[in-house]
Amino acid sequence: MKASNIFPVFDRTLRQDDKERLLNQRAQVFWFTGLSGSGKSTLAIEVEKQLYNKGYLTHLLDGDNIRSGLNGDLGFSEKDRTENIRRIAEVAKLFTDAGIIVLTSFVSPTVAIREQAKQIITSKKYHEIFVNASLEVCEKRDVKGLYKKARADEILDFTGIHQPFEPSENPFLEVKTDQLSINESTDLILSKILSLVKY
Ligand code: ADX
Repeated sequence: MKASNIFPVFDRTLRQDDKERLLNQRAQVFWFTGLSGSGKSTLAIEVEKQLYNKGYLTHLLDGDNIRSGLNGDLGFSEKDRTENIRRIAEVAKLFTDAGIIVLTSFVSPTVAIREQAKQIITSKKYHEIFVNASLEVCEKRDVKGLYKKARADEILDFTGIHQPFEPSENPFLEVKTDQLSINESTDLILSKILSLVKY
């Protein structure tokens, strides 16, 4: 049931800009999307470390972590993936309200799901980073052994095998991790992020 009698206290609370000034940064969301094994989390972790070394306060929301906590009740049906991304986008928005830069690392497989995230976060703050490696390469890497299980039908709704991954249409940045090294990819992402987060 929807909550009623809710009165947000906009006028009396500190604003996002006050928090951003305190932290000397602009809060933005960098939404990493791509197939499992494309390198989203590896790159997000590396970029977060480098932002920290430069004095930026960030928070990383990652599929595998969020799914064992906040979204532990959700699976991989279209409905559950949509709810997964809706909650994550709402959490990301709360962090930006606090002035914090957010990096998210979720497959977020469809244009519609990512559009939902963008609507919640607002297009001004949402920046999509398409971590693009071909299915063949991701399957060959198979870091978690999940593609092998999916091919054996031990997993039945795996993105890229049973369910589609729709490429990003107009990403803020596309990183071809089957052509670039981790260092090259990190440098590319970092320079794009830095162009938006300076206060
Ligand atoms: S999303 O589609 O809802 O955005 P999310 O990023 O949270 O997915 O979770 C994906 C991670 O869960 C993958 O990196 C993988 O480790 C694991 N996983 C387990 N089952 C599946 C599945 N059926 N499809 C995709 N990823 C899965």
